[in-house]
Amino acid sequence: MAATPPTVLVVGASGFVGGHALRHLCSLGWKVVGTRMRGKDGGLRAFDIVRDRLADRVDEIMGEAGRPTHVVNCAAMAQPDRCFLERELSYQINVVGTIRLIEDAFAIGARPICMTSGFAYDGVSGYYADDEPHAPINEYGRHKAEVEEYCAAHHPDTLHYRLDKVIGDDPAEYQMFTEWYQWHLQGKPVVCIANQLFSPTNVRDVARAIQAGCERGLTGVYNIANPEYFTREELARQFFRLLGLQARIVCRTQEELKFIDLRPEKTYLDSTKFQKDADFRFTSVRETIRTFIERLKQDPARAGEK
Ligand SMILES: NC(=O)c1ccc[n+]([C@@H]2O[C@H](COP(=O)([O-])OP(=O)(O)OC[C@H]3O[C@@H](n4cnc5c(N)ncnc54)[C@H](OP(=O)(O)O)[C@@H]3O)[C@@H](O)[C@H]2O)c1
Repeated sequence: MAATPPTVLVVGASGFVGGHALRHLCSLGWKVVGTRMRGKDGGLRAFDIVRDRLADRVDEIMGEAGRPTHVVNCAAMAQPDRCFLERELSYQINVVGTIRLIEDAFAIGARPICMTSGFAYDGVSGYYADDEPHAPINEYGRHKAEVEEYCAAHHPDTLHYRLDKVIGDDPAEYQMFTEWYQWHLQGKPVVCIANQLFSPTNVRDVARAIQAGCERGLTGVYNIANPEYFTREELARQFFRLLGLQARIVCRTQEELKFIDLRPEKTYLDSTKFQKDADFRFTSVRETIRTFIERLKQDPARAGEK
């Protein structure tokens, strides 16, 4: 007899990663419910990770789907400068609310899957292993490191996916390639942060990795990152080369860009453990850009629509 498919709650399903996770898991025929912070847009339930307790609201949120077997947390304040400027709130969302959600997930008998970040490192050496000791240099990175460390000590069965730069292939969706393409159309230069070296990872791979994590019962910390790595400038060059466009690409230091909190420079990650344990192949940057171009050709007017 076939195993019963998982029932999944995706918290933060109005965001980039959470939205893709929700749509992908739904496409498998799994029972999936998504939340956003406010309102009920697009069938998503309202759930504020700071104010609400999953343990109190799970039945009302899940409705007919029934109790979740997995709780995927994609909710976060993920903008480093905002985390610094709104320290109290960002800590409540990224650390206090996240840990409480993880504990509530275990309390209701579900497995939590959380997103963490390569910003848990200082970005000096790069090519971080799954179990490398943390060394964050900004507020956002400190939040991610604190949650990982808390779970390692108290809830080692939590699954943490450590992401680096997540990219998309849909020109209708607001994401880095769409932004670059629009800057170019508007005659603006494509401004890149100098010296950043990252693993651009297709958001659909992150969604497939979440599927694999549920199916295989993975636990602990996994780097979820395309094994290719690029500087931001080189990625922009390859993007416009494959598009056949001559774009003006300029590099600026963090000081010139007037960032409020520091960005680690080399955040690329070694995802060998995940590739082996989940028998997983990541989408190459070339494949992602080609899909972007195909979709753009099919419907050029939709660029940046969502
Ligand atoms: N995207 C990347 O390149 C990247 C890289 C490394 C790690 N990550 C991690 O991956 C996760 C998802 O990132 P993302 O890019 O998808 O972020 P995002 O697009 O900014 O989405 C954030 C989500 O969190 C929700 N949210 C914010 N505050 C909340 C609160 N108080 N209670 C409940 N929900 C709340 C938002 O809901 P509303 O829409 O209602 O505000 C939204 O659904 C985050 O943990 C992030 O740190 C992302």
